[in-house]
Amino acid sequence: MDAGRREPHIVAVINQKGGVGKTTSAVNLGAALAQAGQRVLMIDLDPQAHMSLHLGIDPDAVEQSVYDLMVDEGCDASKAVTRIDDNLDAIAAETDLAAAESELASNPHRNELLRNRLSAILPTYDAVVIDCPPSLGVLTLNALVLANEVFVPMQAHFLALQGVGKLLETIGLVCNSVNPDLQVTGIILCMHERQTMLAREVVSDLEEFIESSRDQDVPWRACRVLQPPIRRNIKLAEAPSFGQTIFQYEPGCHGANDYRQLADDVLSGWNPSAEATTTDSVEVDSESAPCVETPTEITPTDPDRDRVESA
Ligand SMILES: Nc1ncnc2c1ncn2[C@@H]1O[C@H](COP(=O)(O)OP(=O)(O)O)[C@@H](O)[C@H]1O
Ligand SMILES: [Mg+2]
Repeated sequence: MDAGRREPHIVAVINQKGGVGKTTSAVNLGAALAQAGQRVLMIDLDPQAHMSLHLGIDPDAVEQSVYDLMVDEGCDASKAVTRIDDNLDAIAAETDLAAAESELASNPHRNELLRNRLSAILPTYDAVVIDCPPSLGVLTLNALVLANEVFVPMQAHFLALQGVGKLLETIGLVCNSVNPDLQVTGIILCMHERQTMLAREVVSDLEEFIESSRDQDVPWRACRVLQPPIRRNIKLAEAPSFGQTIFQYEPGCHGANDYRQLADDVLSGWNPSAEATTTDSVEVDSESAPCVETPTEITPTDPDRDRVESA
C-alpha cells in the first residue's frame, strides 16, 4: 500500500459453527461502525448470502459478486460494490460462490485472491467486516489472508468453549502459514442470557482461558470479550427478513443499543484515546435493562439451540 494511505481495520467474523450470530453481528456491528462515522465495507463470503439478504441486496440481481471478484481476474472491484447507506458499502455473495472452492482448487494463489483484487479500493475505507461461512475452506482462508483481526461470535452454551478453543487453534495454524500478522482480538457473546448459571460459568471459563493465553505466543493473546454481550432480542431476528440492519428496522430496541455499544467498544480498542461516539443518546442501561425478552433457562442437553424464542 502507498505511503500516506491508511490501511483499514479488516475484521473476519468467524466461527465454524452455524447459527451462533456471525451474520447478525457482522451486519449490525458494521452498520453501527458506519453510524459512528467510519467508512465501512461489508463483504459477504458465505454462499448462503445471508449478509447480502440482511442488507436488502438480491444476490441474483447483483452485477458482480464476490464470486466474480475471486474467479474473474479482469473483474473491477469497484463494480462489485453496492451502496447500502451513508458510509456503508457491501460486496454481495451469490450461490455460485459455493463453486469457487472447486474452481479455484488448482490456482496456486487461491488464498490471496480477495486481498489482491480488493487492494485498489481498500484505502477508501476505515473498516472492512467480512462475514465468513461456517467452514474453513478456501473462502474463509481468503478472509484470513485479507484480514488483520478476527472476531469470534459465540453463544455461552454447553461445549461452546471447546468449539472456540479448536477454532482458535485452527486459526493459529492458518496464521503460521498464510498471515502471521493476524490477531484474534474479540469474542462477541451473542443471544446472551446473562442471568443463567450456565452462561455465567461459560463466560468465566472463557475469561480464564483468555487470561491464561496472555503470555503465550498465540494469535489470541490480545483477545478480549467485547462489551456488552448481545442480548437475545426478537427484533434482531426479524430485521433480516425486511432486508434491513437493526438501525433501519428498529433503532431504539435493545439489540440496536447493544450493537451500538459494541461498536464503541471496538472503536475504543482501535483508537484508545478517542471518545465513544455512538452511544451518547442511548437511554437504555444494559446493566439494568432486562437481559432477555423471554426469560428462559438454557439446558445443557441442548447445546446446539440457535433459534430465538417468539418473544
Ligand atoms: N441477539 C439475537 N437475538 C435474537 N436472535 C438472534 C440474535 N442473534 C442472532 N439471532 C438469530 O439467530 C439465528 C442465527 O444467527 P446468524 O447471525 O444467522 O448466525 P450465523 O451467521 O452464525 O449462522 C438467526 O435467525 C438470527 O436472526
Ligand atoms: Mg451466517
